[in-house]
Amino acid sequence: MEEENERKEGANMSAFVTACGAAVGPVGQGTWYLGEHPATFREECNALRAGIEQGMNLIDTAEMYGEGAAETLVGEATRGFAREGLFLVSKVYPFHAGRRDIFTSCENSLRRMHTDYLDLYLLHWRGSVPLAETVACMEELKAQGKIRAWGVSNLDTADMEELLALPEGGRCATDQVLYHLASRGIEYDLLPLLRERSIPVMAYCPLAQAGRLRRGLMASPSVQKLAHAHGATPAQILLAFLLAQPGVVPIPRSGKAHHTRQNAQAAAIRLTPDELAMLDRAFPAPRYKTPLDIV
Ligand SMILES: NC(=O)c1ccc[n+]([C@@H]2O[C@H](COP(=O)([O-])OP(=O)(O)OC[C@H]3O[C@@H](n4cnc5c(N)ncnc54)[C@H](OP(=O)(O)O)[C@@H]3O)[C@@H](O)[C@H]2O)c1
Repeated sequence: MEEENERKEGANMSAFVTACGAAVGPVGQGTWYLGEHPATFREECNALRAGIEQGMNLIDTAEMYGEGAAETLVGEATRGFAREGLFLVSKVYPFHAGRRDIFTSCENSLRRMHTDYLDLYLLHWRGSVPLAETVACMEELKAQGKIRAWGVSNLDTADMEELLALPEGGRCATDQVLYHLASRGIEYDLLPLLRERSIPVMAYCPLAQAGRLRRGLMASPSVQKLAHAHGATPAQILLAFLLAQPGVVPIPRSGKAHHTRQNAQAAAIRLTPDELAMLDRAFPAPRYKTPLDIV
């Protein structure tokens, strides 16, 4: 019963709060590959706006995406929305994550996104800049008011342990990693470590890139059966699975308004323990350490 309550709680809130202290929606929005083509820019902008209107106020982007094009799209899509009600996340390239470049990178992201602060700034993946240097710079950006919090992405357990052992490493606010129903390696030791430290996980590729990362996922009998039972789409079932995991915030990406609305509505789907057990049998989490899945 306690576990069930915990699961429900995890499904109803994300661990992040906006600058005005409001809860961040349980489902966020990704932006990889968005904003890159003039022909689809407006449609993608409207898709993000539809998502925000549905409560998906966390938007994830990166200086890498379209070399700034996705950040520019976010700047456009968020026009007219109260800034303090949004939760904007961007990422710095590992080779910009040192004292020489990070401050310029951050300024450039802010300029493209038409904002004067980021809610969360992430190290995109670990490179050759020492973690301690990145952490020190992130803390300086916080002190300057350019970012409210910082985190990391694509760090596996050993890297996380190294980070958390640094004097200010415990201030890390998230680890953004690949996590979907057919890729559950993080459940072995990374997710338990992050939960123990109360660090939420942002699940990227939550739809396995519309099933492209795992052939047959969307059409699998268990996913189809649950979609039918809940009057939902297979994509919504994949999100509902992640939302049932405490401390996990999925960030699906869509350039289509009808999809972003469906993604937001997935938060209302509650999978029962029996249904979760069925998914578990069809897509079991590994019982041994596997390398962190990365795209
Ligand atoms: N930190 C990292 O290294 C890293 C790596 C990868 C991704 N990310 C972040 O995570 C986000 C999500 O990952 P992702 O973009 O790779 O893949 P994803 O969200 O798993 O899948 C995106 C694909 O799903 C489709 N889709 C979205 N909603 C749908 C729905 N309701 N029904 C059917 N199809 C739907 C989209 O097409 P439509 O546009 O047609 O809807 C698109 O083809 C990224 O955009 C990015 O922000 C971070």
